[in-house]
Amino acid sequence: MKSRIVVSVVLLFAIALAACTPAAATGPIKIAHLAPLSGPVPTFGASTRDGGLLAMEEWNAKGGVLGRKLEAIVEDSQCTPDPAVNAANKVIDQDKVHYIVGETCSKASIPVSEIAQEKGVVMISPTSTNPTVTLKADGTAKDYVFRACFIDPFQGAVMAKFAMGKGYKTAFIMLDQGNDYVRGLAEAFEKAWTEMGGQVVGKETYTSQDTDFSAILTKVADSKAEVLWLPDYYNIVNLVAAQAKEKGVTAVLMGGDGWDSSDLDLKAADGGYFSNHYSPEDTRPIVQEWVKKYQAKYGSVPDALATLAYDATNILIAAIEKAGADDPAKVKDAIASGTFEAVSGTIKFDQYHNPIKSAAVLQVKDGKVSFIESVAP
Ligand code: PHE
Repeated sequence: MKSRIVVSVVLLFAIALAACTPAAATGPIKIAHLAPLSGPVPTFGASTRDGGLLAMEEWNAKGGVLGRKLEAIVEDSQCTPDPAVNAANKVIDQDKVHYIVGETCSKASIPVSEIAQEKGVVMISPTSTNPTVTLKADGTAKDYVFRACFIDPFQGAVMAKFAMGKGYKTAFIMLDQGNDYVRGLAEAFEKAWTEMGGQVVGKETYTSQDTDFSAILTKVADSKAEVLWLPDYYNIVNLVAAQAKEKGVTAVLMGGDGWDSSDLDLKAADGGYFSNHYSPEDTRPIVQEWVKKYQAKYGSVPDALATLAYDATNILIAAIEKAGADDPAKVKDAIASGTFEAVSGTIKFDQYHNPIKSAAVLQVKDGKVSFIESVAP
């Protein structure tokens, strides 16, 4: 009888304690990674996931953050608006995450950013470069949304200047109007190029479903353009580059970070140039250390996507630590006001929640991608 009373008193205490300690404050801190593991650009997804998970593993090996372990929730968001929105709602509503790293592609990050902002969940896109990802309609920053990369007006201008510097005067622009990233980067290049006195001798659009670009490429060949500006992802670049060779296009192909993939067709794109966020050839110790540990874990050299996902995840966790609480409202302020030593450079956010960072110009040549130069803003 007596022992039964003791048991029930203990039980009552336990229930009372559980009621006033929110379960979330004792369990792991969850971070969702929205990565395009399937869909048009699966290498983007694999790299983003691998970089983000490595950062979490390192923090967990040191004991986690705020005395709690970190738990990763990885969702396949397909570089596509609907699956990305579904993944965001799932991790927020079911898994109750307060933090999202992702998406990779601007087109998917834009609708996800609306949800994160509305639900008060901190989001850092590692790689989405379209300006609207972090902006509200009135042009001010979405206070919960950040990115770890530079934006397209910058990388478009970097490549326009680079092309000019090589003595080229004429460019042909190809773009997929249904892709926010491609459209934005096409516009950014055109603006910078024409402002510098460059000529646009042709501009043609296609859709992401197209596989035959011969009609457009005939026009490119006829235009005698010196540069073919092709700011799309590697899957499209591979098709266009191979067909451009067949059509006898002599223009030098140029593009942006979307070319960065272990699946880029180095033979077809030979001689082409693209801007990117980092180069594994960078001699800074933080970069070389990163390349070494990524290689040890995954057996390959990290691309920009893996690197930026690692940076984005580290920024987020460092901000949780600095905020001293698993509270997205405080964590967003810690991100906005902090300075972070990242692999891709020192990161400090401007009023639009964009880091100010340099770009690397890379060349595809003789079966490999080589570093040409670094360009500061
Ligand atoms: N910047 C691209 C976008 O916004 C994504 C990307 C980044 C792709 C880096 C490859 C490398 O859609």
